[in-house]
Amino acid sequence: MPVLADLKRQSRAICALTAYDYSSGRLADEAGVDMVLVGDSLAMVVLGQENTMAVTVDEMLHHTRAVRRGVRRALLVADMPFGSYHGTVREGVVNAVRFIKEAGAEAVKIEGARVELARALSEAEIPVVGHLGLTPQSIHRMGGYKVQGRTADAALQLKADAQALAEAGVGALVLEGLPREVAAAITAELPIPTIGIGAGPECDGQILVFHDLVGLTFAPSAKFVRRYADGGALIREAIEHYREDVERRSFPSDEESYHLPGATRRALEAAETTGTLRKA
Ligand code: KIV
Repeated sequence: MPVLADLKRQSRAICALTAYDYSSGRLADEAGVDMVLVGDSLAMVVLGQENTMAVTVDEMLHHTRAVRRGVRRALLVADMPFGSYHGTVREGVVNAVRFIKEAGAEAVKIEGARVELARALSEAEIPVVGHLGLTPQSIHRMGGYKVQGRTADAALQLKADAQALAEAGVGALVLEGLPREVAAAITAELPIPTIGIGAGPECDGQILVFHDLVGLTFAPSAKFVRRYADGGALIREAIEHYREDVERRSFPSDEESYHLPGATRRALEAAETTGTLRKA
């Protein structure tokens, strides 16, 4: 992932954002983010599911294709969904190939310290982004959405996992839900860029979920989310105004209506008078 590596080398902060369709992808791209991730958070923020576990490869491919059409400049990364890389390494590689070949992603993201798979993906020319810390596909094992790496042992294990992934060829590493100090230590030691979410400001870059950033979520936000717009309130208000206008018949206006050409109108009026319809 030379683009992200260059940014780390230049000490320039990497700005990443998730997107799930043509319009969110295009908006993120036009706003200048460096990396767009089609996250499996799609399951929750777009499909309304309880967690990220149920989203399928076919659903992720469908949305990645849509985002691909909107993203011209930024690096496009697709999340491999739960179950698509948890069997054999070969199955993981076969599924990853689909994201590159069928959906136009430039890299895939996998959660956890799957070092063997990371190496196989790199060897198969598939750029791979790792993801450590609070990995949402592991919530059942972790017992919920809990900040990770809080003990010395856990922090050391994360550092070792990060190093092993980097050595296996991972091009960038998402660090989620970690104490700031742990993410800072990993970032300082790692040759590849780290991209934080709930992992403090010392990461090489940051990523947010599109719907969190623009205020399109329905549950209270996590501590690490900074909401830059109240999109939900804005859209709800617009829809209420539309409903009111329809109910009082002020929408559509005459200017918002199509009209017949004058000659056709006159012919229709004449036909109504005489009972025949002549060609205008
Ligand atoms: O699915 C997702 O949106 C993610 C980001 C939070 C990193 O994995």
